[in-house]
Amino acid sequence: METQGGTFLVTGGGSGLGAAVAGNLAEGGANVVVADLEGENNENVRFIETDVADEESVQDAIDATLEFGELRSVINCAGVATAEKILGKEGPHALDLFNKVVQVNLIGTFNVARLGGRHEGERADGGRGARRHRQHCLGRGVRGPDRAGCLRRFEGWRRLPDPAPGA
Ligand SMILES: NC(=O)c1ccc[n+]([C@@H]2O[C@H](COP(=O)([O-])OP(=O)(O)OC[C@H]3O[C@@H](n4cnc5c(N)ncnc54)[C@H](O)[C@@H]3O)[C@@H](O)[C@H]2O)c1
Repeated sequence: METQGGTFLVTGGGSGLGAAVAGNLAEGGANVVVADLEGENNENVRFIETDVADEESVQDAIDATLEFGELRSVINCAGVATAEKILGKEGPHALDLFNKVVQVNLIGTFNVARLGGRHEGERADGGRGARRHRQHCLGRGVRGPDRAGCLRRFEGWRRLPDPAPGA
């Protein structure tokens, strides 16, 4: 994928995998907006405080990203990782913790994909059938690539079908 001059939104870009992707994009001459709970602006990357599970917050981040130009791609890296047994020695898995994982990893990922994908579709090839949603799904509470795999796969975006309204 051509990154030079393109505009990208990277969630979770304040640290870890997202920071690596954001740095890689910026080095390649892209306009990069990082949407994260925490982070900072630097020369090539603009930080927008964002909660991926919150509709308004993600829309604000997308609007800020569009100020750079058309959105070439959204990269979903925001996520939380927890390791707790459903029934451990200390008792059952904390429900609040599980709820947080679902909110960030599941709801948040979907929220970003649906709001960001809409603009990617506008950019791409014009027609609905030709819409592309390139997404590097990393922390979905399931399996994901390691850092090296993340950067490798960044070169080979997956083509995902659009969610069909009503489906
Ligand atoms: N690092 C790996 O090798 C690896 C491998 C497989 C899966 N994962 C998964 O990928 C995800 C990211 O991993 P990482 O190593 O980069 O973790 P990380 O903790 O370094 O980065 C996650 C980022 O997401 C942000 N974040 C958390 N909740 C958010 C929210 N509600 N809104 C916006 N941003 C939020 C955090 O602030 C943080 O900057 C995790 O879910 C992890 O489980 C990581």
